[in-house]
Amino acid sequence: MIAPSILSADFANLASEIAAVGPSDVDPGVDWVHVDVMDNHFVPNLTLGLPVVESLLKATDIPLDCHLMITDPGRWAPPYAEAGAYNVSFHAEATDDPVSVARDIRAAGGRAGLGIKPGTALAPYLEILPEFDTLLIMSVEPGFGGQTFMPEVLGKVRELRKVIDAEQLTLIVEIDGGIHNGTIEEAAEAGVDCFVAGSAVYGGDDPAARVAELRRLAAAASSAGV
Ligand code: DX5
Ligand code: ZN
Repeated sequence: MIAPSILSADFANLASEIAAVGPSDVDPGVDWVHVDVMDNHFVPNLTLGLPVVESLLKATDIPLDCHLMITDPGRWAPPYAEAGAYNVSFHAEATDDPVSVARDIRAAGGRAGLGIKPGTALAPYLEILPEFDTLLIMSVEPGFGGQTFMPEVLGKVRELRKVIDAEQLTLIVEIDGGIHNGTIEEAAEAGVDCFVAGSAVYGGDDPAARVAELRRLAAAASSAGV
């Protein structure tokens, strides 16, 4: 799955930027659109919030993958699911009770995702994986697009893939940060299912072609790794 991050898109034209990665001659269309919500508390950057997401939901049929880099997700995350966001990920580092946040997101009709920063261990969360639909492994420090991929997080991807296979979980392994043509293959080989890419998709003048190339590289590397 490819999930372009609109963090690197033109914020004055988000609807057309999303349409640019929809179905076209070069690509069947992206699986999810990744929406980075930052509150200038959990991360030192400020982007957009629920009103913008509500408008985006009216502007596209592509499922929205909301990545909440915010404090107090127990209060703020469920309304994104209520509004119709397909997947709502919040950060493990932002709450003492990730299970109740996940349950509230699911009760509101969304899929629940748990995000972990590059320095956050996976082990404490292995027991609660069934509460989640997505595990978002950050491969940069959250807060900004265009940073350098941190290959050391792929150890967590491999560990997670083993647990998913052993326990037959249906969890989606998502990676976010620094994914481009030069890094997507190693992430795919490690066992990633869903690749977020911001600057790699929206940094050029043909986002759909960028997506098609990322998809081709990831698919080839995934099948080679099986
Ligand atoms: C960073 C965001 C990412 C960001 C990725 O905190 O979570 O989704 O948009 O941007 P690139 O793909 O440019 O690293
Ligand atoms: Zn993100």
